Amino acid sequence: MKIAVLPGDGIGTEIVAEAVKVLQVLDLKFEMETAAVGGAAYEAHGHPLPEATLKLAKEADAVLFGAVGDWKYDKLERALRPEQAILGLRKNLGLFANFRPAICYEQLVGASSLKPELIAGLDILIIRELTGDIYFGQPRGRRSAPDGHFPGAEEAFDTMRYTRPEVERIAHVAFQAARKRSKRVTSVDKANVLETFQLWKDVVTEVGQQYPDVKLDHMYVDNAAMQLVKAPKAFDVVVTGNMFGDILSDEAAMLTGSIGMLPSASLNASNQGLYEPSHGSAPDIAGKGVANPLATILSAAMMLRFSLNQPQAADRIESAVKDVLAAGLRTADIHSEGTTKVGTRQMGDAVVAAITKKT
Ligand code: NAI
Ligand code: MG
Repeated sequence: MKIAVLPGDGIGTEIVAEAVKVLQVLDLKFEMETAAVGGAAYEAHGHPLPEATLKLAKEADAVLFGAVGDWKYDKLERALRPEQAILGLRKNLGLFANFRPAICYEQLVGASSLKPELIAGLDILIIRELTGDIYFGQPRGRRSAPDGHFPGAEEAFDTMRYTRPEVERIAHVAFQAARKRSKRVTSVDKANVLETFQLWKDVVTEVGQQYPDVKLDHMYVDNAAMQLVKAPKAFDVVVTGNMFGDILSDEAAMLTGSIGMLPSASLNASNQGLYEPSHGSAPDIAGKGVANPLATILSAAMMLRFSLNQPQAADRIESAVKDVLAAGLRTADIHSEGTTKVGTRQMGDAVVAAITKKT
């Protein structure tokens, strides 16, 4: 098994180093190879996603990704900006299913902006389709408005599109994920207004008939946005399109307190995946040794579970993270009175120690 390690920019290098340390202590048989990506790759090779990096990612069984981006690259032309690296990886690896679990750890209940009773024990999974929808649909562009309220005025337009196979494959992913959890799927759409999401709803319903053991509900996206803050624990697996998923997954993330705790996985049809924290490169705290490495460490656990078929090793990491939180260790983003503030490296060391103590 081979893991491509792409630390990237800003805190990316700091947090990925901790996840690599954790992976190494598990004593599993895999090879890790590191390559430059994002701004770091632009500096070294003149391109945010060099051929060699893409080749390594394609050949590997999984990619562990840190973060890319920095304000200092804002003036570069779009194709050379660090963020193009993540888009290029998604496209070239065919990563169509984005998993974003929102889990509220017992010790961090107080870090949420919601009342403790609403989020204590929260464990939901948002599955976002990643390659279709209005973000990529053609035609798009600018023109002089041919009709409407202001004919002849400057107009911009995008096109929302989904094909049946695109919806089928993400629906299967959602039902299969639900089978391993509490067997409930909520499909989020806007079928009352949009034809695209009427097709979505029809196809998800059809695919659902192949999973009679999983309960399927449909919810309009505006209601889903309300229910996520009103009664988040009523959900289990939520599946939705690219744009609704972008928004709802950020909303769900914030239920749990800090973005420094949230992992993510992006998978393709052969379960090859890219694993990264939900946050970015945090240039405001980069190089200071204070970033929370737990989102990246938990992403490594998802990688072991989904792409490398090592569920027990994934459990060991997740349970070590709980132990470390229970011991009161906190990076600055989750620190509160009565807990012990630690830096990035100390947090990584503590997870490593918790794993080795149990073996
Ligand atoms: P960000 O997620 O990097 O930071 C938002 C806020 O959260 C900052 O105050 C930051 O200090 C804090 N934060 C983030 N991760 C943290 C951690 N592990 N521990 C403690 N605090 C943490 O988002 P922002 O500031 O909007 O973007 C910064 C750069 O990151 C931009 O260049 C953006 O394009 C890029 N970005 C990259 C992503 C990726 O690589 N997939 C995703 C999102 C943003
Ligand atoms: Mg987003």
